[in-house]
Amino acid sequence: MLNALRKQPEDKILALMQAYKSDPRTDKIDLGVGVYKDASGKTPIMRAIKAAEQKLWQEEITKSYVALAGDQEFTTVMSNLVLGNAVAPQNVAAAGTPGGTGAVRLAFELARMANPDLKVFVSDPTWPNHISILRYLDIETQPYRYFDDATCGVDFDGMMADLEAARAGDLVLLHGCCHNPTGANLNLTQWQAVIDLLNRTGAVPMIDIAYQGFGDGLDEDAAATRLVAANCPEVLIAASCSKNFGIYRERTGILMAVAQDAGLRAVAQDNLNSLNRLTYSFPPDHGARLVSMVLKDDALRADWQAELEEVRTGMLALRQQLADELRRLSGSDRFGFLAQHRGMFSRLGVGPDLVERLRADHGIYMIGDSRMNIAGLNAQTVPVLAQAIIEAGA
Ligand code: LMR
Repeated sequence: MLNALRKQPEDKILALMQAYKSDPRTDKIDLGVGVYKDASGKTPIMRAIKAAEQKLWQEEITKSYVALAGDQEFTTVMSNLVLGNAVAPQNVAAAGTPGGTGAVRLAFELARMANPDLKVFVSDPTWPNHISILRYLDIETQPYRYFDDATCGVDFDGMMADLEAARAGDLVLLHGCCHNPTGANLNLTQWQAVIDLLNRTGAVPMIDIAYQGFGDGLDEDAAATRLVAANCPEVLIAASCSKNFGIYRERTGILMAVAQDAGLRAVAQDNLNSLNRLTYSFPPDHGARLVSMVLKDDALRADWQAELEEVRTGMLALRQQLADELRRLSGSDRFGFLAQHRGMFSRLGVGPDLVERLRADHGIYMIGDSRMNIAGLNAQTVPVLAQAIIEAGA
């Protein structure tokens, strides 16, 4: 049987992560996988998470199963964190998942249970694993224009024109904030126009929000998701705790399905529970419990928010420094978009040859589409990167 298997296409992000590890150069710079790193290059455990972990170790008295949708406290606090009071809690079905990826997969599966002929509209570009999962599930995808290569901003007219083709029963996948891989985002007026279009076509929005707190702030980054949830009859929301709580390997995420009423919510909840059971039974608990502990304890929550704010403003400062340095070296403003982008990533907007030169000649690793992880930089490496970008011919 095993001899019938074929090698799977490699995941570009994870392959680059491996290539970076194997590079012996000591001055190499990792701008690849989306993991936050501080100025010393470490991915720290956040203070509040460490404190919650200590408390949990003292207080936890069983490792028995919890519930198919995960711990209800987690789904409640996370629904609050993402949705605020945009929708009535009794209309929100929710299930814990192994990371944001688990939530994305669950969302696609749920939507396909509702509509076997599901078509999913995805931004061009989007997180490559969105496409891989959809392909694996044999779900039709329809790209919509998103990134404008000329301005390195959003091609909003193109996006709206392409989304006109969406129909009732289709899913339109949107990044709630901090678009991955481009860093270019809609403003709230544009979000409202998307909402009007969705409501006119009957297509259902699905929001992937994996970087809440990394852009303009916790509430600011959730504003678009809340606007959609408050104004569309249905929405699926996949949220990740990997980045904003720094608990990548714990695999902590949540899928929320906002329904029109409590009756529809109950059916959606039943389907989410069932999908969890069919896939892995119970979602992981450790990370989810840490998140609940942090969000429910005033002191821990305040400390977590303060640390997250340091992370966010640190990345903004690096963006500004890089844009300034490139302005100085290029004598032009054409890299100004780097300071406008938000989140962990920016797409530099250069071709794969230049990306390859940066890797080969300078040991600078970014994804082939020129996505850079801004958190992979520090004040000392920004000038090095800027110099290399110009030298490579950008
Ligand atoms: C990324 O986009 O680099 C992150 O979301 C990590 C991953 O799993 O791809």
